[in-house]
Amino acid sequence: MNEAYEKIKDKLENYRKKKIPVPTPKMIKTKEQIEGIKAAGVINTAILDMVEKNIKAGMTTDEINTLVHNFTIEHGAIPAPLNYEGFPKSVCISVNDAVCHGIPSKKEVLKNGDIVNVDVTTIYNGYYADASRMYIIGEAKDNAKKLVKVTKECLELAIESIVPWETRLGDIGDIIVSHAKKHGYSVVREIGGHGVGLEMHEDPYVSHVGKKGTGMLIVPGMVFTIEPMVNEGSRLIYQDSRNGWTIYTYDGKLSAQWEHTIVVTEDGCEILTH
Ligand code: MF3
Ligand code: CO
Ligand code: CO
Repeated sequence: MNEAYEKIKDKLENYRKKKIPVPTPKMIKTKEQIEGIKAAGVINTAILDMVEKNIKAGMTTDEINTLVHNFTIEHGAIPAPLNYEGFPKSVCISVNDAVCHGIPSKKEVLKNGDIVNVDVTTIYNGYYADASRMYIIGEAKDNAKKLVKVTKECLELAIESIVPWETRLGDIGDIIVSHAKKHGYSVVREIGGHGVGLEMHEDPYVSHVGKKGTGMLIVPGMVFTIEPMVNEGSRLIYQDSRNGWTIYTYDGKLSAQWEHTIVVTEDGCEILTH
């Protein structure tokens, strides 16, 4: 029995009658579940902080993978990516024109000026938290620094905009695209945010290119990620056919991504990976 859902069931039903899509019971997390996801978030954040302290030029992405893996295990948690649908490593690391799902490698050496996304998903006590940050190696060019900054703003603006019982999922994408476009950037459409907590990827899908006033109503108890991927050039992407995972920009230009797991509260939302 999901008390959290039962409490808002009638209110949701009214919206559903007005043809507004509303969350299913599974999308409304209980107090206990939110506490569990929060605890996973604390470790997830500690991992990203640990990466921040260690990442530097000359290191391979495989070395970062080892640091993340060991730190996670030492804290009694499990790195969710490892063996997820055959993913071979414990973390996704995507450098420069890699958009997401980069596989750490002994052959990939970080160099001055690289922009690197490290995407960490942690399972603790059965609960999942998912977040990623960009790291700038040494001194990057102004265009790279700007892309990283604007992409972070896209995520922050989307998070700040959430008003429960008012904001729709489509509003999130609208805000992200507007901010990215203002700076001449494009937004990746094929991959989005997602419900998270009891599994790594749950419904709903959270598009970063949605339309204002469309999509599911956002209500308290929902836990999901927002993780915009913003490209310097074209929005077009392709998947590495050799490893079946890594996504790259089609034009070889830079891409950046930031991700948080959030829980919607009575009066806004709380970041669980901060
Ligand atoms: N952390 C990613 C996300 O934000 C998912 C990683 S899937 C993996 O959704 F298999 F590549 F690990
Ligand atoms: Co992630
Ligand atoms: Co995610």
